[in-house]
Amino acid sequence: MTAGGRPQETLVSEQPLDYAACVRRSEAVAWRLDDVMPRGTRLDFTRPFMPEELARTSRIKLLDEAEQLRLNQITGNAYLNLFAFVEEFIIAMVVSLAQSELSRDHDAIRALSRFADEEVKHQQLFTRFREAFDRDFGHPCAVLSSAADVSRIVLAKRPLAVLLLTLHLELLTQRHYVAAVKDDRTLDPFFCSLLHAHWLEESQHARIDTLQMSKLAEGMSRASIEAAMHDYLAILEAFDGLLAEQARMDVDSIAMATGRTFDDAERAQVEAGQHSAYRHTFIVLGMTHPPFVATLRTLAPHESDTVIAAASRYS
Ligand SMILES: [Fe+2]
Ligand SMILES: [Fe+2]
Repeated sequence: MTAGGRPQETLVSEQPLDYAACVRRSEAVAWRLDDVMPRGTRLDFTRPFMPEELARTSRIKLLDEAEQLRLNQITGNAYLNLFAFVEEFIIAMVVSLAQSELSRDHDAIRALSRFADEEVKHQQLFTRFREAFDRDFGHPCAVLSSAADVSRIVLAKRPLAVLLLTLHLELLTQRHYVAAVKDDRTLDPFFCSLLHAHWLEESQHARIDTLQMSKLAEGMSRASIEAAMHDYLAILEAFDGLLAEQARMDVDSIAMATGRTFDDAERAQVEAGQHSAYRHTFIVLGMTHPPFVATLRTLAPHESDTVIAAASRYS
């Protein structure tokens, strides 16, 4: 199916799971960068990019409707950058997993190689979007730029924790697209089609994550799995710091885009609103997504409740 085809909304857990099936599904949904976003594409700045359920800009009452729309678009740009940002460590992890399968499972090598190729393509897509945004938005908007450093820090954690975080992020795209984006007719159709394309391939990645996780967890002691769960929570805490940093950058961006000067209280209000929206979008929705919760319960029946309960820190 091409990115413009009808979305397939089946939950990850309902699909047959083996590497050969992952390759077949990947081939069926694959899309080309130039088809999803031809060079020279112009963005439509008259419409919101992000669904209100995720961007939550209408909660920032000191901004009027036009200003909230601008902030929504700033958030959409930062949202795509955040995905390109985390894809940096995912690519490094998947390339190393593919290498460890060399001379062994051909289906696994193909599934993992396609996975890595698709993530690099997503980064290129988001970079192309961000270039169009920077060209036409009218004001510079800062985004996080230390992906390689963060990737090294994440990859130093236990492999099971890195896989858990990867699954969390990839399942998120399902929750964002299917639950919040797909039926929202107020959004810019181009931005929706871009999120649709991303979600189509991310759904396949989530299946591969699950396969890799079962392989990795086999034979691990309860203590090791518990330690990996703690690593996962520690990475989320560090990631939350990055979300706060993005929220601070957004305040400067919206001030510049609207020509407003915020006093300290107003600045704090916009910053808190943005941080809370990013936390909801990137942390809470991932930790509480039913397929992710089901994976946690299978992996660590005794510790899963503690991990899931940690989501309340970010609500
Ligand atoms: Fe991706
Ligand atoms: Fe992915």
